[in-house]
Amino acid sequence: MKKLSFLLIFFLLLSLCYTDASAQKKAAAPAAKKPAAAAPQLGKSPVKEVIKAMTLEEKAKLVVGMGFKMPGMPKPTPKQMKEGVDIGGFKLPPSDEDAYNVPEKVPGAAGRTHGIKRLGIPSITVSDGPAGIRIDPIRNGDSSKTYYATAFPVGTLLASTWDQDLEHKVGVAFGNEIHEYGADVILGPGANIHRNPLGGRNFEYFSEDPLVSGRTAAAIINGIQSQGVGTSIKHFAANNQETNRNSVNTIVSQRALREIYLKDFEIAIKGSHPWTVMSSYNKLNGTYTSETRDLLTTILKNEWGFKGFVMTDWFGGRDAVAQMNAGNDLLMPGGPQQSQAIVDAVKNGKISTKQLDANVERLLNIVLKSPEFKKYKFSSKPDLKKNAAVSRAAATQGMVLLKNDDNALPLKAKKIALFGNISYDLIAGGTGSGNVNKAYTVSLIQGLTNGGYTVTANLKNAYEGYLKEAKGKQPKSAMSFFMLPPPVPQMVVTADMLSQEAEHADVAVLTIGRNAGEGADRKVENDFNLMDSEKALIKNISDAFHSKGKKLVVVLNIGGVIETASWRDQADGILLAWQPGLEAGNAITDVLSGKVNPSGKLATTFPVKYEDEPSAKNFPGKELPMPEGQKPSPMMGKPSEVTYEEGIYVGYRYYNTFDVKPAYEFGYGLSYTKFKYSDLKLSTKKFNGSVTATVTVTNNGDVAGREVVEVYVSAPVASMQKPSEELRAFGKTKTLQPKESQTISFTLTAKDLESFDTARSAWVSEAGTYTVKVGASSADIKKTAKFDLPKTIVVEKVHNVLKPQVAINELKK
Ligand code: BGC
Repeated sequence: MKKLSFLLIFFLLLSLCYTDASAQKKAAAPAAKKPAAAAPQLGKSPVKEVIKAMTLEEKAKLVVGMGFKMPGMPKPTPKQMKEGVDIGGFKLPPSDEDAYNVPEKVPGAAGRTHGIKRLGIPSITVSDGPAGIRIDPIRNGDSSKTYYATAFPVGTLLASTWDQDLEHKVGVAFGNEIHEYGADVILGPGANIHRNPLGGRNFEYFSEDPLVSGRTAAAIINGIQSQGVGTSIKHFAANNQETNRNSVNTIVSQRALREIYLKDFEIAIKGSHPWTVMSSYNKLNGTYTSETRDLLTTILKNEWGFKGFVMTDWFGGRDAVAQMNAGNDLLMPGGPQQSQAIVDAVKNGKISTKQLDANVERLLNIVLKSPEFKKYKFSSKPDLKKNAAVSRAAATQGMVLLKNDDNALPLKAKKIALFGNISYDLIAGGTGSGNVNKAYTVSLIQGLTNGGYTVTANLKNAYEGYLKEAKGKQPKSAMSFFMLPPPVPQMVVTADMLSQEAEHADVAVLTIGRNAGEGADRKVENDFNLMDSEKALIKNISDAFHSKGKKLVVVLNIGGVIETASWRDQADGILLAWQPGLEAGNAITDVLSGKVNPSGKLATTFPVKYEDEPSAKNFPGKELPMPEGQKPSPMMGKPSEVTYEEGIYVGYRYYNTFDVKPAYEFGYGLSYTKFKYSDLKLSTKKFNGSVTATVTVTNNGDVAGREVVEVYVSAPVASMQKPSEELRAFGKTKTLQPKESQTISFTLTAKDLESFDTARSAWVSEAGTYTVKVGASSADIKKTAKFDLPKTIVVEKVHNVLKPQVAINELKK
């Protein structure tokens, strides 16, 4: 123990010496203008005074992060530092030693800002990621003390709850954990729109619809920030794929941008005031987002009133000077060469002092709020038990019951034949920076056992033996951060085994799993589409059990959309469990058993086939010739472009308008009970500033349950194209007992009816007749009512910016 504390003090001193030495070296600051004692101190003097006292070098250091240290990354050699470091196929830019030697406050955190001691400016720590704080669980090889974090359900599941109170609660638990582990800002939530089902990071994101996505993000941010720590909503903006993510140019119309890809950020940012925003890797209509002033300053800061600071994604963009001028206030993870470029640019007039001061001021205003500034004494001991319970409860609320023929669920029988590798090894969440180092993931077999079910022993033993062996044979990838090991092939279940199981068990449960993450998109074959082995398994189990009059329930443990239409007839029940966090098996059992009545609904469409997707022919775009003299770099990807030809017709906006029937539509989800909708009333037939719709929902079944109520509006088609309907409001009932009713009301203002009129560069609600459609899904409208808007309203004029550089052949009705 004594030795340990000695070592600790030694390292602490070493790191302090290091910080000081590096501070001196990097700042290369001319002697401070005033004697140290007289220097204004952050928090004691006004921020502007502190900025006035800063040297140019100090400012340029503050707006560039401390550098990059990957968990477990060995110190690069001088040669590597000069040439850049290859981390499993990703090349980090050349840098000096300091940039790889970040003194760690929270080991495993993604980055830090510089502190400036003489002005009382501390260094703040930022950490991934959206589903829980991603830090090193074991420090210095000492496993007697661990730092595991709670893996909350992934974003896609949280959005499927359609429940902002619950998302806020998750945010509170999450925020408390961030605070207690000593970080200042969490690098999340991720709020990019699900443009295409293959998006590798869709699990981190919420929905194809900006209203659901924006409101979910806002609720989580409000929850996290209520705990005194900050968030970084990411990746701003139009970053909807991983293929060539560092160099792809997203070409998208101003209308689609405003209505779809910026809209959810707008809703989230106005509704929750995140401390920071993370710009994305991609180019948007020709320029890196982190270098686009129209995006970061004109829209985000000026139009939306965002008060925090903008940071780059890790190594995002290329030109530090353009980034500063764009209003990208902090460059992450940062390297001294960027600070130098900024110093030079101020000296030669390429960055004005006013601009740099504005970047610094935004940063300092957030530093002032940080736990680090407040000298919060974090415990490194969050209440993991309590947070696991929050994670489990949330998970049950976002699972979606896709199919339930003949009341296959809740499970009545107690003896289960549990099939599928994943049943024994559930996926809590995706990979990359969205991964969480959790202490455990409850498997489905554990969950079912905890829930009082028995599983047939022979099958269990066969799977467990098989998995042990197969996993031992899996290649150990050095870079598992970016590269997923190939999934373990399904265990072959012989006809003999099947007939035994069908004989002895009461019901079959089969889990199909999918994992994905940062750095790659998913594939159509063997990923979106099931593998042949999975299809065969479904068919064989289905045949064997049905021949004995027994049922098959399929559990989907997936982070993104898959194909279901070709096999769903063979299952009696299908539960979409998403990736439900560390309590996975318990949460799934809560729903399978009926302890919790499922109330999640799809926030993203499940198409019949991939080719039905409106973005399919433009995903992930096309590669462009390498500019002369440049070599392809694994880090930057290949030059490429993707054109969003589907325009505003994303998800259900497409399927409904173009009459393409999906497998499961946006907003869909079953319950163990039935709900009746009645008495839809509008407060007025003639819009006069607002209209309020009220509707009564009654639980008409035998068990208690909750219903998501969705309000779509069909707008008159006048000068602009319109989707046949758009979600304009939604809510969720309380738990309704059988026969209990609840009346819910929704008020729509002109803002809730608007579309973006590119010609006027304005949000406009056009005159005419509007139809309010209240439904249980985007295709299951229960009640409708109409009102008139007598005169067109120009809701808001905005800047005519972010124009595509080329004509887009946009989809039209
Ligand atoms: C990811 C970000 C993440 C950052 C820091 C990047 O590769 O795109 O989402 O926050 O790394 O780990």
